[in-house]
Amino acid sequence: MAESLAFSKTSDRKVIYDEIAPQIEALITGETDIVANLANIAAVLKEAFGFFWVGFYIKKENQLVLSAFQGSVACTRIDFDKGVCGYAYTTRETVIVPDVEKFPGHIACSSASKSEIVVPIFKRSGEVFAVLDVDSDRLNYFSQADAEGLKKITAIIEKQMLETGV
Ligand code: SME
Repeated sequence: MAESLAFSKTSDRKVIYDEIAPQIEALITGETDIVANLANIAAVLKEAFGFFWVGFYIKKENQLVLSAFQGSVACTRIDFDKGVCGYAYTTRETVIVPDVEKFPGHIACSSASKSEIVVPIFKRSGEVFAVLDVDSDRLNYFSQADAEGLKKITAIIEKQMLETGV
């Protein structure tokens, strides 16, 4: 397993997503424990981008439950009809929120969080397995490039889950 990450010092996040994707794939190959892998992916995203908060909520019974993350303490359980995470879970779509205060039902885990992107992660059956949630302390921080870059990362997780039978 690689012990360090290599990525360009650039503000073009697309370049960084493209650089870290193969490194994430290498990092999780051969490890079957999903939470261990999500933990390392959260660490990679935090190190590469310095995101304010990055982590995963896994669907368990009728809620989304906090899993591996990097950042400050966060709410542990989210109902499917609550928050940006619940919205992404229910609609099965990537959701970009430029100003969290304007999103009805946004769950403020931290008042410093200003904008947010949430990407659903799918099982082979088509069910949503989890969501990847990234928060910024700046307004309007996330773009289509982040949606595409993060989807590249969630596709790696989905492929690994297929191979390990999660
Ligand atoms: N803001 C999220 C809740 C999770 S925290 O941001 C870590 C939401 O509205 O779903």
